[in-house]
Amino acid sequence: MEYYEIIGGLPLGGSVKLQGSKNGLLPVLAASVLAGDECRIENVPRISDLDVSVKILRDLGCKAEIIGNTALVDSSGADKCTISDELMREMRSSVVYLGALLARFGEAEISLPGGCKLGPRPIDLHLSALKKLGAEVKLESGRISCRAKRLRGAEINFETVSVGATENAMIAASAAEGITVITNAAREPEIPALQSFLNAIGGDVSGAGTNTIKIRGVRRFHGAEHRVLPDRIVGLTILSAAAACGGSVTLHGCVPEDMEPALKTLHEMGCRLELGGDMVKISDGGKLNACRPIKTAAFPGFPTDAQPILMAASLKAKGTSVFVENIFEHRFAQIPEFRRMGAEIICSCNTAAVMGAEKLSGASLCSPDLRGGAALVTAALSAEGVSRVYGLEHIDRGYECMEEVYSSLGADIRRRKEE
Ligand code: UD1
Repeated sequence: MEYYEIIGGLPLGGSVKLQGSKNGLLPVLAASVLAGDECRIENVPRISDLDVSVKILRDLGCKAEIIGNTALVDSSGADKCTISDELMREMRSSVVYLGALLARFGEAEISLPGGCKLGPRPIDLHLSALKKLGAEVKLESGRISCRAKRLRGAEINFETVSVGATENAMIAASAAEGITVITNAAREPEIPALQSFLNAIGGDVSGAGTNTIKIRGVRRFHGAEHRVLPDRIVGLTILSAAAACGGSVTLHGCVPEDMEPALKTLHEMGCRLELGGDMVKISDGGKLNACRPIKTAAFPGFPTDAQPILMAASLKAKGTSVFVENIFEHRFAQIPEFRRMGAEIICSCNTAAVMGAEKLSGASLCSPDLRGGAALVTAALSAEGVSRVYGLEHIDRGYECMEEVYSSLGADIRRRKEE
């Protein structure tokens, strides 16, 4: 079992080039199945979700190779439209392959991705969008099969904003006959990024980034090049760690506007921020103060993925910080671990109040999920004494060599193996 051994309490200093975005990469890899040709995808982060995606693509009959931070995918030989239960269980977001396989082969079969640690994660919105596009959807013994001779353009209005369902609908509608209009679409930066990729492979998508997306279906796709956008959540993780530990860190290669609500929070907490082009520099302003209530919401609101991470930064802030989680039911799993470090947190339903403390002590901690794990590392870096953070398989899903990044900023963090 691997774990991080962290000796906390050191200020962070230096600069970091931000990695590519996990959530930007995964739908693009799924959509590359539609290309039926070679795609070159740059700036891919070396994370374990990439390895799972490569396994899925190869299993479908695609050639997929990763060289450095470039993915080369050739889907011309894809000849399978099913994804095994085993692979589906490794990565919930593989549900986005449903739209891509249906669009390419007229049929697709995957397993229900099931609930995950964040609580029930239904896929009803994905399925209702595909049904609107003319797919016949069957659910049997945990397997979902979709079939459509040719998808037809449709009007799709999502009751709830969903990133994954918007992506699935965009990919499937790209190959449908006629025009599709998606309303109440997700507006996260990953959506315009997917639009760019779909257009690069021959699609005709417009409006991404607003709540209405228009897709004119096309029959032929081709290969293309694409660059994965920077990972705003990883960026906020590093900035929050700098806020919690003190010091001064410059993040390069980011899109500051995509991180706006959380940057505002860090500013409110007393951090000094300098923004310019593709960089953000954070410096401690002496003392950290509690932030105004954070209420998670779909983009451009405060991202749910950054909630545990900013909560970690608030543990040592002066005063009480309130967090309201509106997207996922079980997104406070980091709280019992924070309490092991001496944090005082009151929690009721979807609201948590963190009573900031001067002192946080190192402890043995277990990552509950991807962002929860990153939050524990943030807290451990700022705590006094030694911490062990277990459950690195969660962190590895989305962070490229986290220990190397923090070591380069002067932290004392080592990846160790327990016999
Ligand atoms: C994506 C991100 C994840 C982020 C989340 C919200 C990826 C790979 N993952 O997840 O990191 O935390 O957006 O920003 O991009 N819902 C339904 N029915 C559905 C689908 C969703 O009720 O069919 C609900 C969910 O339970 C949740 C809300 O809609 O309450 C938003 O979820 P969604 O945007 O779909 O999240 P993901 O796409 O799974």
